[in-house]
Amino acid sequence: MDSDVANGEGRIGLDIGTSKIMSVRQSGSQLKATNEVNAFLPLPYSKITENILLQNKVHYYQNNGHFFVYGNNAEKFAGLFNAETRRPMSGGLINPDEPAALTLIKVIIQGLVKKPRSKSDLVCYSVPGAPADAPNDLIYHEKLLEGYLTELGFRSKSVNEGQAIVFSELEKENFTGIGISAGGGMCNACLSYLSVPVISFSTSKAGDFIDKSVGSVTGESATRVKMVKEQSLDLASSPKDKIEEALHIYYDEVISELISTLNTSVSRASSEAHQLDRAMPVVLAGGTAQPNGFRERFERALEASSCPIPISEVRMSPNPTQATARGAFIAAVYDS
Ligand SMILES: Nc1ncnc2c1ncn2[C@@H]1O[C@H](COP(=O)(O)OP(=O)(O)OP(=O)(O)O)[C@@H](O)[C@H]1O
Ligand SMILES: [Mg+2]
Repeated sequence: MDSDVANGEGRIGLDIGTSKIMSVRQSGSQLKATNEVNAFLPLPYSKITENILLQNKVHYYQNNGHFFVYGNNAEKFAGLFNAETRRPMSGGLINPDEPAALTLIKVIIQGLVKKPRSKSDLVCYSVPGAPADAPNDLIYHEKLLEGYLTELGFRSKSVNEGQAIVFSELEKENFTGIGISAGGGMCNACLSYLSVPVISFSTSKAGDFIDKSVGSVTGESATRVKMVKEQSLDLASSPKDKIEEALHIYYDEVISELISTLNTSVSRASSEAHQLDRAMPVVLAGGTAQPNGFRERFERALEASSCPIPISEVRMSPNPTQATARGAFIAAVYDS
C-alpha cells in the first residue's frame, strides 16, 4: 500500500441507500461524512423559483422545463408544498417505477463524490444482498452504478452492505462476525470470516415497511408515522398509544424476519459455515436499529431462536448511520 493510500488519499466510501446516500473520505486526520437524502421533488420552472433556489443554495437539477430539488432540501420543500417527495430507489435497488430515477441518482452521486483528482482514485460503493424474489435485479443496479462512477472518472468497486458493517466495526476481531444494517428499504446482513464474506442476504422488511404498515393499520400517513418513529420511539418501554403499539408490533416483525432468514441462510450454507472455530459477534447498524431498546429486543429474539452457530455478543455500532459508508471507505483503503 503506498503512503497516500495508507492515509486514505484518493479513496471514497459511498453508501448508496434507499433513504440517503452518504460519502466518507479522509480530511486531515479525520474522516469526513457528507450525505444527501435520496429523494427529490419536481417544481415547475420559473425565474423567481430559480432565484430563490440559488439564493438559498438549494441543490437542484434543471430538465424539461422543471426544477428537480433533490437531497436534504427535497423534504423541506415537500413539507412547504404539502407534497410527497419522489424516490430514485426502493427496496434497496433503483426504483423501476420512477421515470426520473436514473437521472436523479446520478446527479446526487456526482454531487457527493465530485471529481477524481487522479485516475487511480477509487470509490467503494455499497450494494445490498440480492433480493430473494428477484436475485438478478442486483446485477442491473450494481452495473449501472459502476457505469456512472466510470463516467465520472473513478475506478469503482462494490461492497456488500453487511460486509461494510463488518469492515467498519469488527477490525479488532479480524473482520470476523456478522454485520447487520437495518435500513429504510432493506435489512442487509453478512457473515464474514477473516474478512471473507461467507453468507450474505437481505430482507425486504425494514424502515419503509414499518412506516407503511403502521400507517395502514392506524389510519395515519406513512410520513407522520416516520416522524413519530424517528422522534420518540422507545422500544424499551411499553407503548403509550395506538401508533406506538403498532410500531412495536412491526419492529418485532422486522427483527423476526431478519433472524429467521439468518438462521435458514446459515443452515443452508456449506459445511464450512458450521465449522467456524469461534463464536461470532453480531454488530447492528443502520437507521432502523437506532431506537432505544432495539439491541435488547434483537438479542432476546436471537437467543430464543435456534441459531445454528454460537453467538458471542450482540453489539450496537457506536455510529449506526455512518457505519456502511465508513466500512466502504475502509474497503477502498485496503484495496490498493
Ligand atoms: N431515530 C430513528 N429511529 C427509528 N428509525 C429511524 C431513526 N432515524 C432514521 N430511522 C429510519 O432509518 C431508515 C433509514 O436508515 P438508513 O439511512 O440506514 O437506510 P438506507 O441505507 O438509506 O436504506 P437501505 O440500506 O435500506 O437501502 C428509515 O426508515 C428511517 O425512518
Ligand atoms: Mg443502508
